[in-house]
Amino acid sequence: MIRVDNLVKNYGDVKAVRDISFQVNDGEILGFLGENGAGKSTTLKVITGYLSPTEGNVIVDDLNILDNSLEIRRRVGYLPELNPLYGEMMVYDLLEFTAQIRDIQGAEFRRALDRVVDQCGLSGVIHREIRACSKGYKQRIGLATAMLHDPDILILDEPTVGLDPNQIVEIRELVKGLGKEKTLIISSHILQEIEATVDRIIIIHSGEIVADGTSGELLSSLRGNTQLTLEVKQAGDESVQQLSTRFEGVALLTDVAENGNRVLTLEYDRTIDPREDVFHFAKESGWVILEMSQARVQLEEVFRNLTLEGAVHA
Ligand SMILES: Nc1ncnc2c1ncn2[C@@H]1O[C@H](COP(=O)(O)OP(=O)(O)O)[C@@H](O)[C@H]1O
Ligand SMILES: [Mg+2]
Repeated sequence: MIRVDNLVKNYGDVKAVRDISFQVNDGEILGFLGENGAGKSTTLKVITGYLSPTEGNVIVDDLNILDNSLEIRRRVGYLPELNPLYGEMMVYDLLEFTAQIRDIQGAEFRRALDRVVDQCGLSGVIHREIRACSKGYKQRIGLATAMLHDPDILILDEPTVGLDPNQIVEIRELVKGLGKEKTLIISSHILQEIEATVDRIIIIHSGEIVADGTSGELLSSLRGNTQLTLEVKQAGDESVQQLSTRFEGVALLTDVAENGNRVLTLEYDRTIDPREDVFHFAKESGWVILEMSQARVQLEEVFRNLTLEGAVHA
């Protein structure tokens, strides 16, 4: 269990994190989402004990970061942003070096090595120079070093940055597998890259939490979030006017002439579905329906709404 309590972190005059609180339960995969500069890395560095908080505290299991920073580091695996690696080293040597720092030796090291090579799919590159490995492999190597001491908690700061779409899918699958056993926090500034992987999403903006929930919960917090687009022929002004007031909770958003036809956009709450009524109305009014399509607002829109400049901060 990780609990962040009223965390504040300033760098001199820069208020990077402004009084945030949240909890991550055992076995949960949390997506920590925010634009560049939102305060993600700063928060993660405090949780992992690499920075001390200006105010507030972080509790990991029965320990807190002010008094037990070293012990917390033993329980947490941390893949920093940009994943700095020594390019000229062999993958094996890096893992051995990391194990030495963590005081993992002999048979214990060989067991740990087998485990991370297996978990991170490194058997093909173990005797290769790190700089000769692809970016996707470099991320897996970073992950392996973060997991050598078999921590219950893994914190990955933007693990998909700079990867191509195939590599992103690979890392996503890897992370999903790890999430079955561990508590995970994964940060990203790109919603789509974590949406499918995580159980819950926290959105941070200018150092404050602006949303916390499952993707379904975040979506339903938006109102009027389903749109129906209709392209119709033979629709007169009067009947279009009628449609705009005919159904409770259904608003006519736009009415555009296109190639002699009319394209109408209706908007309504995601809890109702007026498509059948609209169809019958169109038929009674003598319209010819050329196209009718319903689009739900995507999570991306929630993110954009919440992080629009000036949207928060009262
Ligand atoms: N070492 C630092 N010194 C001063 N300001 C910093 C430092 N690190 C980060 N910041 C500032 O703190 C804010 C949050 O940064 P960061 O936590 O890195 O955000 P994110 O990881 O979400 O991109 C930004 O305004 C950034 O410029
Ligand atoms: Mg960052």
